[in-house]
Amino acid sequence: MAKNNPLIVIIPAFLVLSLMLSFAKAAPKNITTDQHALLALKDHIKYDPTNLLAKNWTTSSSICTWIGVTCGVRHHRVTVLNISYFGLAGTIPPQLGNLSFLQVLAIGNNSFFGSLPDELAQLRRLKRINFMFNSFHIEIPSWFGTLSKLQYLFLNNNNLVGTIPLSLGNLSSL
Ligand SMILES: *[C@@H]1O[C@H](CO)[C@@H](O)[C@H](O)[C@H]1NC(C)=O
Ligand SMILES: *[C@@H]1O[C@H](CO)[C@@H](O)[C@H](O)[C@H]1NC(C)=O
Ligand SMILES: *[C@@H]1O[C@H](CO)[C@@H](O)[C@H](O)[C@H]1NC(C)=O
Ligand SMILES: *[C@@H]1O[C@H](CO)[C@@H](O)[C@H](O)[C@H]1NC(C)=O
Ligand SMILES: *[C@@H]1O[C@H](CO)[C@@H](O)[C@H](O)[C@H]1NC(C)=O
Ligand SMILES: *[C@@H]1O[C@H](CO)[C@@H](O)[C@H](O)[C@H]1NC(C)=O
Repeated sequence: MAKNNPLIVIIPAFLVLSLMLSFAKAAPKNITTDQHALLALKDHIKYDPTNLLAKNWTTSSSICTWIGVTCGVRHHRVTVLNISYFGLAGTIPPQLGNLSFLQVLAIGNNSFFGSLPDELAQLRRLKRINFMFNSFHIEIPSWFGTLSKLQYLFLNNNNLVGTIPLSLGNLSSL
C-alpha cells in the first residue's frame, strides 16, 4: 500500500529541493556581489548632472577604484559608500543590502527619494548612516534599531513623517 503512495516520492523530493534552495540562498557573498549591488544602485539613478557615475562606475575597472567607494584590505569588500554631494536623484535598490561589510553609508546632500528597502537591515556592520538633505518622504523604519553598531544617524532635512521608533532606544553606541 505504502509503495503506491505518491507522497513517499514527493516528500523526499521536496526536502532535497528545499535543501538545495537553502544552499543557494546561503551562497557566499564576495566582491562580485558588491559589484552587482553598486550597478543596481547606478541603474536606479534617474539624474546624474555631471555623468559622474556613468563615466566612472564602469565594469572595466575594479569597484574599489570607483569614486565614492572604499574597500577593506582584509576581506576585499566594500566598507564605505560615500556619494554625498554628487547631485544625484534616484532610489535605493534592495541589492544595497548585500554590501555586507559596509560600515559607512553616506548619500547626504543629493535628491534620493522613495522608500528605504527592508534589506538594508542586513547591514549589521553599519556604524554611520548619512541620509540628510535628500527627498525621503518616509517613516523612520524600526529596523534601524537592530543595527547595533550604529554610532551616527543623520536623517535631517528630508520629509520624514510619523514617530521615532522605540527600537532606536536599543542603539547604545548612537
Ligand atoms: C564570487 O562568488 C561567485 C559564486 O558564489 C563566483 O562565481 C565568483 O567567481 C566569485 N567572485 C570572485 C571575485 O571571487
Ligand atoms: C574614477 O574616479 C576615481 C577617483 O576620482 C579615479 O581615481 C579613477 O581613476 C576614476 N576611474 C575612471 C574609470 O575614470
Ligand atoms: C563623504 O564625502 C564628503 C564630501 O567629499 C565629505 O565631506 C564627508 O566627510 C564624507 N563623509 C564620510 C562619512 O566619509
Ligand atoms: C542580493 O540582493 C538581491 C535583492 O535583495 C537578491 O535578489 C540577490 O540574490 C542577492 N544576493 C547576491 C549574492 O547578489
Ligand atoms: C546640503 O544641501 C542643502 C541644500 O542644497 C544646503 O542648504 C546645506 O547647507 C547642505 N549641507 C551641508 C552640510 O553643506
Ligand atoms: C530591544 O532589543 C531587545 C533585545 O534584542 C528586544 O527584545 C526588544 O524588542 C527591542 N526593543 C525594541 C523597542 O525594539
